[in-house]
Amino acid sequence: SPRTMDSVREEHARLRAGIVAGRPEGVRRQHALGKRTARERLDLLLDEGSFVEVDLYRRHLGTGMRLSGRPHTDGVVAGSGTVDGRRVFVYAQDFTVFGGSLGEAHAAKIHKVMDLALATGSPIISLNDSGGARIQEGVMSLHGYGGIFRRIVAASGVVPQISVVLGPCAGGAAYSPALADFTFMVRGTAQMYLTGPDVVQAVNGERVTHDELGGAAVHGERSGVAAFVCDDEESCLEEVRFLLSLLPSNNLDRAPSTGPCGATEDLRAELARIVPVEPNRPYDVRLLVEELLDDGEFLEVHRDWARNVVCAFGRVDGETVGVVGNQPSVLAGVLDIPAAEKAARFVRFCDAFGIPLVTLVDVPGFLPGTGQEYGGIVRHGAKLLYAYCEATVPRVQVIVRKAYGGAYIVMDSRSIGTDLSFAWPTNEVAVMGADGAVNVLFRRELAAAADPVALRAELVAEYAEALMHPQYAAERGLVDDVIDPAETRAVVARGLAVLRDKRGEPPRRKHGNIPL
Ligand code: COA
Repeated sequence: SPRTMDSVREEHARLRAGIVAGRPEGVRRQHALGKRTARERLDLLLDEGSFVEVDLYRRHLGTGMRLSGRPHTDGVVAGSGTVDGRRVFVYAQDFTVFGGSLGEAHAAKIHKVMDLALATGSPIISLNDSGGARIQEGVMSLHGYGGIFRRIVAASGVVPQISVVLGPCAGGAAYSPALADFTFMVRGTAQMYLTGPDVVQAVNGERVTHDELGGAAVHGERSGVAAFVCDDEESCLEEVRFLLSLLPSNNLDRAPSTGPCGATEDLRAELARIVPVEPNRPYDVRLLVEELLDDGEFLEVHRDWARNVVCAFGRVDGETVGVVGNQPSVLAGVLDIPAAEKAARFVRFCDAFGIPLVTLVDVPGFLPGTGQEYGGIVRHGAKLLYAYCEATVPRVQVIVRKAYGGAYIVMDSRSIGTDLSFAWPTNEVAVMGADGAVNVLFRRELAAAADPVALRAELVAEYAEALMHPQYAAERGLVDDVIDPAETRAVVARGLAVLRDKRGEPPRRKHGNIPL
């Protein structure tokens, strides 16, 4: 029969529908593994009907070693769409095509959407589910990865980059989530490691399962590689949407505002009840964060890793802020290596994307011990110090209860550049606690004293009176105001409003040399 426009259209529609549907047995296998297909995932992530695909027809050039078939898409679905009406670029690896493995064409598609994201100032979201470098395409696969990594680094600090691991992510592939700003993992199905269980066993005899080696719990609690861990794909992609709602689309944009909600006049009597007066009694700083932020709503980054510091996004009077808070209910809120790394990375992200920082200080110091010193706490603690020193976003410090020594300096003190500092009347800002100070200063006097207990008590009281109250810091301008706890939300909101148009020019240099 003669070709007509209608027959051509029908033919084309059939071809397209077949590619979009995928191989039925592949889809069945994917579902049997408890996973959704790439397109089902994009449907969950993006606003309905917003996906605009590129390179549907792209396929490999058939140079591989017995590569069976040349399926369209080449194992990755790429394009753009919107989340709450805001443009994002995405790619979703399709495990039903060559195990989602990455070859030359697959990589080129990813490069294309990454380039478009950077050119348009839009976030990049990757949905990873892949057997890694496509073995049959040899070194071109590795070249493809390198091109992704270079683009992630070029876009770092320009557009937010979110990596979602929904299946295997092994070998060099793992560096893609590692370089991104935030990595999500789903329990049970996501695994990430550089060398798999077989190699591990062959090299050092260790027997581990995929999940024990690189499951969501490992990276969410021990290694800190995953910033967010979710129970299933639906809640995971919903959480990605929530995170995006709190972030600007790029470093020149502001995060979307939900509008003022009276925070500047909001008194919260509850705030004073959360924090015990005794400096060593634990409490959950998240209760404080809840009272501080609009609707008590926040998104914790690295919730289950380095729990002695809390990093969270939320809003104050409608505007996104990043909150860093010592957590007195875990390790008494001391800073240690993971906590310093976690907070440093968070502070740098906020600074790169113009998100104001609110720091809640209640810190007894750094964790003592050989474990920490041998592990390089000096170097890792310096990361947090560096990150704050460098930050030019609006910065508000609230000293809730205590802040001693080096930890006081590091937690966004005046000396390293906080813009506004507020202290509760109970607080103790000092070089060290009273007992320690008296020991150092009066060792000989105490040893020689007829009644050392009485002398010690007298000296401790004197030290507390002289040095351990907020007025000491306030008289010297290190604290801008001593506030009633109930006013904290209002004072922070007003402070942020004052600082809203703060501009910071980074010095002219190639880049600083943060201790990595
Ligand atoms: N290159 C080419 N094809 C690959 C691949 C890769 N790196 N990884 C997986 N595949 C293919 C498999 O050959 C299989 O093809 P088939 O359906 O035609 O048989 C398909 O993808 C599905 O993989 P399979 O191994 O059956 O899935 P699984 O769920 O049992 O295991 C992995 C998943 C990722 C653990 C396993 O595929 C694997 O170990 N892959 C290699 C990982 C790796 O070392 N990659 C290189 C690192 S840079």
